[in-house]
Amino acid sequence: MSEVDRIHLICDISLIHTNSKWRYPGSWEGYPMYGDPGLYFEIARILERGRFDGAFFADVAGTPIVNGSMDDTIELGVAWPRHDPIPMVAAMSAVTQHLGFVTTMSMTYNHPFHTARMMASLDHVTRGRVAFNAVVSGFPQEAQNYGYETTPDHGWRYERASEFQEVMAKLFDSVEPDAMVWDRETGRVADPSKVHRIDHEGEHFKVMGPLPVAPSPQGRPMQVMAGQSAAGIELTARYAELQFAMGSTDELRAAHRKTLDEACLAVGRDPKEVNPLWAGYFDVVSDDYEAAENRRKYLEQFPAKAPHVFLSQWWGLDGYVMDPGGTVHETIAEVKRLGVGPNWGYLDMALRTTPPEMTIEEYALDRLDDGTGFVGTAEQIADRMESAFYAGGGRGGFMFAPRSGVPAGIERFVDEVIPILQRRGLFRTEYEGRTMRENMFG
Ligand SMILES: Cc1cc2nc3c(=O)[nH]c(=O)nc-3n(C[C@H](O)[C@H](O)[C@H](O)COP(=O)(O)O)c2cc1C
Repeated sequence: MSEVDRIHLICDISLIHTNSKWRYPGSWEGYPMYGDPGLYFEIARILERGRFDGAFFADVAGTPIVNGSMDDTIELGVAWPRHDPIPMVAAMSAVTQHLGFVTTMSMTYNHPFHTARMMASLDHVTRGRVAFNAVVSGFPQEAQNYGYETTPDHGWRYERASEFQEVMAKLFDSVEPDAMVWDRETGRVADPSKVHRIDHEGEHFKVMGPLPVAPSPQGRPMQVMAGQSAAGIELTARYAELQFAMGSTDELRAAHRKTLDEACLAVGRDPKEVNPLWAGYFDVVSDDYEAAENRRKYLEQFPAKAPHVFLSQWWGLDGYVMDPGGTVHETIAEVKRLGVGPNWGYLDMALRTTPPEMTIEEYALDRLDDGTGFVGTAEQIADRMESAFYAGGGRGGFMFAPRSGVPAGIERFVDEVIPILQRRGLFRTEYEGRTMRENMFG
């Protein structure tokens, strides 16, 4: 494996049907709204034509309560509806040959046996093209769907996630790669000496095993993690191959890569085995005029009362009635005093980056157009990607969502940005391998 790799690209299509994105002029044209897989098939084919590594579906299985009720959430479509992404991944894999898929499963509410079995099965159905985003869930209404009063404590969630990973690793190893026999003559299916019970007994799980799935094309489906806390980075370093990372400037990316390197070395892993995919969005335009027009169209798609509803949901302010005219600083002081909301990291970031007089409404609008965007001409976007990629250590790549409509916004990236990256030798012209891991690490 060389020191510097080529850029890898995942397209985030989780929210194209919600959070007002479906209203962007030209989006979903010719397709009935979510539920019909046609648009997803078209996107999958476009991404494969662009030699993308994969498509990503985030997942949070709760309906946010905002300002004391679910009404705004449902009426404005804030992270709602959210279907389980796994059936769509299976369907999209049938219309593609090479494109990979990252789908999300919670280590807080699922069971590791179910998760390992589902992912190994999906690895078969996609012919080795699946990775999963293993998350430590933070949103209170998701907790309430799984029988908890509210989100369990951060430390508890990471302890469970750590044992969850330990169990999955044992399960994936419980069937040796050459265990299957499938001998038509004798009727012998597998060699029992190569299939092992795991007999795991821990604090959170008791699992006999083995995994009742034949070894899948990737052996262990790839894993992505996105926790940004110290515990999240440690777990990523131990078990993941990819990390969704945040960083709006090259300095922040370089600092994050350094933290990840140190975490990998601390657990005895080569940092080259764990690569960041920088989260952000893209919008390819012809000039500054089109960039401004697209920004206007993007912000206009949100109904008037939506921005602070989004903000309340991002901050996880379960039941707290937010005054859009109040200042960010006063609101956060009150939120902390009341002890609501699990995402204090976001709150601290907001305090650091806002002037004292900024209102919630202004901040919410600002967040909808945050600094992680790659907006510009194809050449400008390619330049920024190149610099961001090297700042992040020259490995990994990007996990980008389209900001303008779908599928046209994605198609424009594929037709205009990808050829520039290819000419610069920064991006593949053909898929390297058969499985997602071979393409990402081959
Ligand atoms: C780019 C990105 C994507 C994420 N996707 C999801 C998701 O789909 N579902 C979810 O519950 N959490 C998601 N998260 C949250 C993290 O995976 C993580 O588990 C959470 O932030 C708690 O960990 P932390 O306290 O270590 O940050 C995402 C985070 C990032 C940065």
